[in-house]
Formats: sequence, C-alpha cells, structure tokens
Amino acid sequence: MGIKIKKAVIPVAGLGTRMLPATKAIPKELLPVYDSPVIEYVVKEAIAGGIEEIIFVTRSGKEAIENHFDVNYELEHRLEKKGKKNILGSVKNIIPESVRITSIRQPDALGLGHAVLCARHLLNDEPFAVLLPDVIVLDKLDRKSNFSFNCLIDAWDKTGVGQIMVERVKPSEVENYGVIDLGSQRSQPFINNSILDLIEKPSQRDAPSDLAIVGRYILPASVLDVLERIPVGVGGEIQLTDALQSLIDTDGLNSLETDASIFDCGNKIGFIGANLAVSMRDPAAKKYLRLLFENGASK
Ligand code: G1P
Repeated sequence: MGIKIKKAVIPVAGLGTRMLPATKAIPKELLPVYDSPVIEYVVKEAIAGGIEEIIFVTRSGKEAIENHFDVNYELEHRLEKKGKKNILGSVKNIIPESVRITSIRQPDALGLGHAVLCARHLLNDEPFAVLLPDVIVLDKLDRKSNFSFNCLIDAWDKTGVGQIMVERVKPSEVENYGVIDLGSQRSQPFINNSILDLIEKPSQRDAPSDLAIVGRYILPASVLDVLERIPVGVGGEIQLTDALQSLIDTDGLNSLETDASIFDCGNKIGFIGANLAVSMRDPAAKKYLRLLFENGASK
C-alpha cells in the first residue's frame, strides 16, 4: 500500500561532543565498532531494507564520511599490486554499485528536523527513511541481520502509515529519548500500534510509557510540509518529534517495537557495548574476550 521507500536521510552534521576528545579530529560516525566504522553498519542496514539512495546531511570537516564510501584509487592500486585480495574486497565493495550516495550540507546546527528539511529538494515528495548515524541496531543472532529495519519497511509497505521503531528502556532512562504514548494498547515486538502522542525527553514522572524512539523512522513526504511551518522548539532547534506529533493528527503514525540490542555509539558506554557485542559474534574475538573476562588477562 505504501509507495516503495527508495531514499534514506542520514543526518551526520553532529559535532560528537559526547565522545570528545576522540572526536576532535575524527567524525564520531567513523569510530570503529570491531572492524568497521559505525556509519557503515547504518548504511548497510538501510541498503538491506531496499534503500537505493543514501542522503548524508553533513557539515564542513566531516568529508571523511563521504570518502569512506568513495573510491580510493591509490589504496586500491597498492593492495591489488600486493595481492591483498581480501582487504581489497572490504575496501572496494562496501556498498553495491547500484546504490547512490548524495550529500548536502546543513549550514547551522538547528536540530534533527532542520537536518531532514535540508534534504527536501532531493526527496522529490516521496516517502523516505531516516536513520540516526550513531545508533547500531543489532538483531538477535537467530534472525537475519537487519531484521528490525526490514520489518519497519514491511509495515510501511502494508499500511502506508509512517513508522517509528521503538525499544523498551528503563524508567530512569526515558529522559534521554523521545517516548511514545500508546494509550491502552499493549506493545509487543514487531506488532504495529497506533501512536497517540509522543514526548521528547520527558522526565520519568511525565513519561507516557517506557517505549523509546530508537532512531529509525519511515516517514511520508507530508512531514516535510509540517517541518517547514512548525515553530522552533526545545533548545532553539527544529525538532523532528514536534513534526511527528502533528503528523499523528493528519496522517497517523505507527510504532514497531524491536527486541534487538540497540547501542547509542554517540556515548562512551553505548560505544563500548556495541564493540563487545559485535566482537562476540566473531569466534576468535569471542575466545579472546572470554579469556580476558574470566582470567583478567589477555593471554
Ligand atoms: C534523538 C531523537 C529522540 C530519539 C533519540 C534516539 O535524540 O530526538 O527522539 O529517542 O535520538 O537516539 P538525540 O539522541 O539526538 O538527542
């Protein structure tokens, strides 16, 4: 029922202040989780969901993100000459040739809603996905990778209603997220619910639930009109959450709960968690980590 989602907006203009000093000279999106930069997981997640064009909303000083997905002739040439085929493969074929990467600048740090609006002219009035670049969604081992994002796309395809991925968080953590209100509906993993309201970073007392917005959205083009006209919100920024609130009344908005492990790699604890969880999926690294944790030694 929903028009096919072909484009994904990934806002990468953030300064990464929560990860300083590591991010003084390196974009937070390029910090490695096990063997690949965070942004590579996010881009691959989008592509696995059928996305054909990635739109980075970026800023000066973060060109290295685009370079990561571009050709590096000298490196490729040298690896080829040395016969290092495996490494060459990992450098050369990060994303399929058919997927286009476009980038646009966000001239000022005016919030997530503003970042999405910066991509408007590239979206051709089509529905689109938004993926936050520092969130890694690690689906359970017995599921296909990127299962959750695929479910989000499927739910849009079936309903044509905007979709927000949510996860359960501890009550003490709701203040870090957008939190949804489902009224008397019960949320269960991968069951679609209608969102009645959402609140950005509520106090524990005001939070309508423990269901937090993860950073994965499928949105109708109409949200762009809303973003154009909403007033500046919290922190002097144009908040995506404010636009979504207004979308509930006009187009409706659904939630889809995930049971995946979600890591916010924009902070130190989430970043280390992602590194450990991803490493544990590699048998050699798992053996090493076992030794380290059981014996307190690396040998
Ligand atoms: C943003 C969104 C928030 C969401 C969070 C997920 O907040 O505004 O609704 O829950 O991402 O990581 P930020 O973390 O950018 O402050």
